[in-house]
Amino acid sequence: DVPINVGLLGAGTVGSQTARLLVEQGDELTNRIGRPIRLSGVACRNPSDVDYPWLDKALLTEDTEAVVRGADIAVELIGGLEPARTLVLQALNAGTSVVTANKALLAKFGPELYRAAAAHHADIYFEAAVGGAIPFIRPLRESLSGDRVDSVLGILNGTTNYILDEMTTKGLDFDVALKDAQEKGYAEADPTGDVEGIDAANKAAIVASLAFHTDIGIDDVAVEGITRITSDDIAAATAEGKVVKLLAVVENGEAGVSARVYPALIPLDHPLASVRGSFNAAFVHAEAADDLMFYGRGAGGAPTASAVVGDVVTVARHIAQGSTGQAIELYNDLPKAPLSAS
Ligand code: HSE
Repeated sequence: DVPINVGLLGAGTVGSQTARLLVEQGDELTNRIGRPIRLSGVACRNPSDVDYPWLDKALLTEDTEAVVRGADIAVELIGGLEPARTLVLQALNAGTSVVTANKALLAKFGPELYRAAAAHHADIYFEAAVGGAIPFIRPLRESLSGDRVDSVLGILNGTTNYILDEMTTKGLDFDVALKDAQEKGYAEADPTGDVEGIDAANKAAIVASLAFHTDIGIDDVAVEGITRITSDDIAAATAEGKVVKLLAVVENGEAGVSARVYPALIPLDHPLASVRGSFNAAFVHAEAADDLMFYGRGAGGAPTASAVVGDVVTVARHIAQGSTGQAIELYNDLPKAPLSAS
């Protein structure tokens, strides 16, 4: 059988673990797909600095476009808007399916990318963009597509949840806890977006768009981060029997669709209060399903790679079956409620 080629863009925290799973589980994945799958190239900024025992160095290159051209599935793990947007569009416009973990890209240019995918019968999958390892995008995109979702309440950033948890349980200072989160591979390359709530806001935009089938972008999300939370605030919350959590709230209510991210006081007996460390959680309410809850590791190389490789297998099956082009339609034009962070 002709192998399905997977081209990887990025060899950082998530990219290296994605490569590991693809290489170490190659035979098993081939069985699951029914066709051989192989890593055909890995693009990164400094190939000579990359040294992972599972990765054949001959696959490494600086040439991102060559990796896209040689791929049946392009896996974008570079992050940020450019060159990610250009590369993803190049892939989709050539009919090459894309798997991405890039929440900023989707929150800004999602509809453009979904249209390009549909126009060229390509897939675009992004389970890893929200909630790391947690299967959450797929349920919104598929399992709940017969229902009407009206709200999602989520802890969607592992870095800030880790920081707030360390401040609460160990009395650590903000800066010390942030440094820990960076060392553990939870934070973005520039952690400003994590602590300012932008990362959670990007994810809230993606979730709101899928949940309500409407175009909600990053500019539609009201954001307040955790940089102004002091140890005194944490102590005051504890004294009240509450914890501080950075919450993403998306709703389709009477005032229209709203998406916001802000530090919220959660009573200790609420299930969200027990979401520890880098874990994420999301509560969904849908008309017929009622309450649903999703929980798991929201950041880190291996957990996020689990979601990426799950998408790769899904797309590879579609390629094997000739059924790529699983489009995302954001057909609703719902009114947007005025922005307000809390
Ligand atoms: N920086 C992100 C977080 C990584 O802390 O949740 C996962 O998207």
